[in-house]
Formats: sequence, structure tokens, C-alpha cells
Amino acid sequence: MKVFIGADHAGFTVKEKIKKFLKRKGIGYEDMGTDSRKSVDYPDFAFKVARKVAKTKNSRGILVCGTGTGMVIAANRVKGIRAVAAYDKYSAKMSRHDNDANVLALRGRLFPWEKTRKIISTWLESKFSGKARHKRRIGKIGGKKNA
Ligand code: RB5
Repeated sequence: MKVFIGADHAGFTVKEKIKKFLKRKGIGYEDMGTDSRKSVDYPDFAFKVARKVAKTKNSRGILVCGTGTGMVIAANRVKGIRAVAAYDKYSAKMSRHDNDANVLALRGRLFPWEKTRKIISTWLESKFSGKARHKRRIGKIGGKKNA
């Protein structure tokens, strides 16, 4: 699996930690920016990552902004993307089991790294259940790409 990662200025510090974490875990990633704490616009990075995920087989995306909110709203505008803003392990796990989420949006501000790290691990390790009812529901959303 390859992971595309991106952040705005409010998520930059956490993105750098995520890179080290993925490296330690032996998971391949590509950093799509931003590359500093200078103010930027989150949709630019959400779209870069989401478009890559939508066209790359066996890939996922991780996005970080201040709250995760802007990133999840923007990423879900890209066809084939099922993005989740997860604030705990349960939502991270269920977004894979039931929704086959392919992008994880995280909160970069006022959130403990330990929690973020656990959310990422859970999300990366959790698998889509593949159950017919979940496939049907995802199909109704219309985002079959990279499912
Ligand atoms: C930037 O200040 C902030 O609005 C952004 O990082 C994000 O939280 C938006 O949803």
C-alpha cells in the first residue's frame, strides 16, 4: 500500500511526525506538501492528495489541517474518494469496515500526537468488510474507484 499525505500550515507539524511514523512502520508514502508553516489554502492539498488516491490502485491518503474539517469537505468532492475525519479509534476502524474510506483527515491543532498515532495505525490496519450491504451503500454514493 502507498500513502499520499498532505497538510496545510496548521497540519504541517503533524504531517512531519506522520512521515517519521510511516517510515518506522515500513509503509511507503509520498509527501504532497505543504512544506512549511507559512499560511496556505487547505483545498489545494486536499485535491492533490485526493486526485492521486482516486487514480492510484492500492493507495490511501492522509490529510491534516487545523481540525480535519476543511480537508474532509474538500477531499470528498473528488470522484472515488471516501474521506473520513476521525477523532478516535472507533470512527477510524468503522470507516474502513463499513465505508471503505480511502482518505483519512486528521486534526493538527490541540490534539495529542499519541491519539493521532493510534488513529492512523487503526485506520491503516483495518480492512473493508466487503459485505454486500456495505458494497451496495457505497455504490449508491457513486464512488467505486479504488474500492
Ligand atoms: C486554518 O487556519 C484552518 O482553518 C484550517 O487548517 C482547517 O482547520 C480548516 O478546516
